[in-house]
Amino acid sequence: MSQWTPQSWRDFPIQQQPKYQDQALVTQIEQQLQKYPPLVFAQETRDLFQQLGQVADGEAFLLQGGDCAESFADFTAPKIRDTFKVMLQMAVVLTFAGRSPVVKVARMAGQYAKPRSSDMETIDGVSLPSYRGDIINSSEFTAASREPDPQRLVTAYHHSAASLNLLRAFAQGGLADLHQVNRWNMSFVESNPLKDRYQDISQRIQEALRFMEVCGITSQTAPSISETQLYTSHEALLLNYEEALTRRDSLTGDWYDCSAHMVWIGERTRQLDHAHIEFFRGIHNPVGVKIGPGMEEDELIRLIDALNPNNKAGRLTLITRMGADKLADKLPRLVRKVQQEGRKVVWSSDPMHGNTVKASNNYKTRDFEAILREIRQFFAVHQAEGSHAGGIHLEMTGEHVTECTGGAYGLSEQDLAQRYFTQCDPRLNSDQVLELAFLIADSLRTGAV
Ligand code: PEP
Ligand code: CO
Repeated sequence: MSQWTPQSWRDFPIQQQPKYQDQALVTQIEQQLQKYPPLVFAQETRDLFQQLGQVADGEAFLLQGGDCAESFADFTAPKIRDTFKVMLQMAVVLTFAGRSPVVKVARMAGQYAKPRSSDMETIDGVSLPSYRGDIINSSEFTAASREPDPQRLVTAYHHSAASLNLLRAFAQGGLADLHQVNRWNMSFVESNPLKDRYQDISQRIQEALRFMEVCGITSQTAPSISETQLYTSHEALLLNYEEALTRRDSLTGDWYDCSAHMVWIGERTRQLDHAHIEFFRGIHNPVGVKIGPGMEEDELIRLIDALNPNNKAGRLTLITRMGADKLADKLPRLVRKVQQEGRKVVWSSDPMHGNTVKASNNYKTRDFEAILREIRQFFAVHQAEGSHAGGIHLEMTGEHVTECTGGAYGLSEQDLAQRYFTQCDPRLNSDQVLELAFLIADSLRTGAV
């Protein structure tokens, strides 16, 4: 195998990249970004690696979630705060009810590049380049907006830095204090059918905290009560951006992609002899790869060995996104093969991307029931095969959007028009996320599905 460098991916075929008009400007911006400070530090990334190792060993659970695509326009503190809160709420339910530590990884502070199934989009006979995420172009349907603009790379960097800054403040500045669990609950509307269950859990947590206080364990003596660790992640699609943020760690001499703690390769760009695998093999972050229903056992082993040749637990998360109707047929033999070959991976379920449908009124949506069905089957397969159902990967938001149908409120196709704001794929709203948390917590605790 040839020598790896942060730019060696450039010698390989690559999919899903924008075609910029002004290449000289792209190069200039890449050089500018190379001088900017890293967004995350290598040591934090190693901490996540180690925690994901515990997930791979069956001792913890991974919760990964956030927008399908973050947006420059919808970039506000309440939006970041509300998604942070709902992730934490979900983590509390899973930790307490599932009796298992939860590793929290946000699809935030950098989730700006989108792969698309088609290069062009046609509306009323007009064809324009597809929207590819705010780091590349704008979603507005005009020729000027859809033109890839290299300045957006810099804007994405600054938006990521500001988001990360706020997330770090929330994680360490008191918002995540377990004593506040009831206050997070305030956004949870009074009429929510799951309100009682949530309050029951939060009461039990308060009782546990009071007992610990009597024993001398408080937020002051045990910072883990008042602080949390939230890691960041995104699909590392746009490799010139990732390359510019890839730095050599002075402590170990190893290369890290410092645009996020964890990065993953999407379903459309994981060809073994292509650029994304080349780039990922050289960075030392924990990495993920999406696995769709077309994956075969032998190819999966080759993919695992390309990304994790030393078979280190925590390095590689396989994010399966099969679809509720296909998973039971496709997943068991993949799990069996990985078990037989002794490869250490985190298995995580993305129940979103295999269950996207078009509603009768043309909205792109996903049904809560299909999402839940895929998760339940994921747990069932892992239980049957004796492996650990390690995590879930959700497209979700803390906002009260109406993008996915179903759930306790019974959102219908007609309701979708009310608050359909996504830049790309439909997200679960905060009520749907919490409902899912309770249902998954039951599975975690009882092993039953
Ligand atoms: C995504 O996670 O938004 C995505 C595009 O997923 P996939 O690569 O699995 O289609
Ligand atoms: Co998506």
